[in-house]
Amino acid sequence: MCGIVGYIGKRHALPIILDGLKRLEYRGYDSSGVAILTEAGLTIKRRKGKIKDLVELVRHETIDGTMGLGHTRWATHGKPSDENAHPHRAGDVVVVHNGIIENYTELRAFLKDRGHHFKSETDTEMIAHLIEDHIKAGEPFEGAVLSAVRLLKGSFALGIMHVKTPDRLITVREASPIVLGFGNDENLFASDMPAILPYTDRMMFMKDGTMAVITPDAVRLMDFSGRGLPTEPGRYDISATMAEKGGYKHFMQKEIFEQPHAITDTMRDRILFDTKDITLGDVLLEEKGLGSVKRIHFVACGTSYHAGLAGKYIVEEITGIPVDVDVASEFRYRTPLVNKGTLTIAISQSGETADTIAAIRLAQRQQSSTLGICNVIDSTVARESDQVLYTHAGPEISVASTKAFTSQLIAIYLLAIHIGRITGRVSRQQASAYIDTLVSLPSLLDAILKQEDRIVAIAKEYSRYSDFLYLGRGISYPVALEGALKLKEISYIHAEGYPAGEIKHGPIALVGPDMPVVFIAVKGRVYDKIRSNIEQVKARDGKIISFTTADGREVPELSDAVFFLPAIDELFTPVLSVVPLQMLAYHIAVLNGTDVDQPKNLAKSVTVE
Ligand code: F6R
Repeated sequence: MCGIVGYIGKRHALPIILDGLKRLEYRGYDSSGVAILTEAGLTIKRRKGKIKDLVELVRHETIDGTMGLGHTRWATHGKPSDENAHPHRAGDVVVVHNGIIENYTELRAFLKDRGHHFKSETDTEMIAHLIEDHIKAGEPFEGAVLSAVRLLKGSFALGIMHVKTPDRLITVREASPIVLGFGNDENLFASDMPAILPYTDRMMFMKDGTMAVITPDAVRLMDFSGRGLPTEPGRYDISATMAEKGGYKHFMQKEIFEQPHAITDTMRDRILFDTKDITLGDVLLEEKGLGSVKRIHFVACGTSYHAGLAGKYIVEEITGIPVDVDVASEFRYRTPLVNKGTLTIAISQSGETADTIAAIRLAQRQQSSTLGICNVIDSTVARESDQVLYTHAGPEISVASTKAFTSQLIAIYLLAIHIGRITGRVSRQQASAYIDTLVSLPSLLDAILKQEDRIVAIAKEYSRYSDFLYLGRGISYPVALEGALKLKEISYIHAEGYPAGEIKHGPIALVGPDMPVVFIAVKGRVYDKIRSNIEQVKARDGKIISFTTADGREVPELSDAVFFLPAIDELFTPVLSVVPLQMLAYHIAVLNGTDVDQPKNLAKSVTVE
């Protein structure tokens, strides 16, 4: 939550920082602000609302300094307002912050006693005062920042400027991400790569408990005791356009359409076509003793949790190993029964979700081996897990997750087949059949995406309803949950996902002409069962929208609207069936005029509890 950017160099800082903020707006959009140091002094501009409101505010101003800070906010302490917008200033110290300071109340009271006056309700302003307090006590800028951060508890990624030390910026990382960008005669830092990509491909992810002092031609890294650390930038081969809309109306639409590509990238170099086997390179199950895993436990949040729920069906079916699935925020506050024989798998697109990170740490304390399925390279989950399986889906900018979900599913299929081969449960012939299905998915997805018009027609017919029920059975049940989540988060329409077999135990009471029921009815083990669920809804005048692989006429004849899915092995259907549901949610939201890429109250990575 919240995005921060810092620039120091020879160019005008303002456009670079505003551009960086636009690229980080997915992290929060309650308010934004910039601080630029010019020869004439410091200029701070802040505005409640989106980056476009800030751009409007500075449009006619000449602010030509070559160093500055920027911030886009997702409110935690203090409501969204101009006063609570960052940057915050205390005397000559200016701070932008992503995270939450847990001992904020004590430190604020302490500083008030020492004569500090606060203008906002934010924990960030307190940090600026704390640093100023140390500077007033005679410490130099760097020393004052180190003294201050040693007193902070919680999560913080900071950008800091001192008006009287105009040759440097400082950034600090503790439990909130910061990536450093190394340019020519200019250096940058930001909460995430997209803000840096247009300027340099040389980057480095800071580690927790570290601080960087940044000048136009150098970056000095140290831990919180002031001990120097090596700077080791790597080259990241990601183009800035990958993080731009590329002709699509919204990032969500672009990312939906990127899925054939994204899942291909998840499979790339991991499928051995000559032997029809899987190689996971970095994930060496045998060497790490994971071939003898007795249980698998998925932990994740939101859409990634739904991938974990589908993962239970996939892994149990392919490997025969029992699987549990937990929402990370539940897992972390009970006594989960994970131990030495358990492989705990954290699924996280961002790798920065606070609850998922806490879950993986708890599992490690209980001796479980851990594996992260992550999209963002070098993210906290990726770094802290014993092993990591990257999805390589490319940057996901839209707040509503789409390609991350399908690529997480692919990673789970690959992992399950890999484990099955090691344990002997999956024969070479069976592996070969699974692989054939996997490699057929991108072109089947292409065929689905070509039918966007059909989805638009369904969306037009149903966009005005205020409640939806999504029903699926077996492996389509997590897909129903995901379809409902997509609709509610971007269109603000109430939608619930249920296992179809459960409707008789309550939800059928809601069924009637005012509530469309979306069925995911794929051919397979429970097809007859779900067909009879459709009949039950029909008998109660429910409006039925079916997504089906059925070749017969029953499901279409019972449905008010139908979308046909290609028929494949039932176990692999979620990768296909979720996509028209993503498109349906997207087009209903567009028709209703909501802000698709930045739905209200949400942010892309939930780095706070
Ligand atoms: C929904 C959505 C969220 C995320 C959840 C976990 O569209 O994007 O539910 O899936 O916040 O995020 P990650 O996967 O980054 O841990």
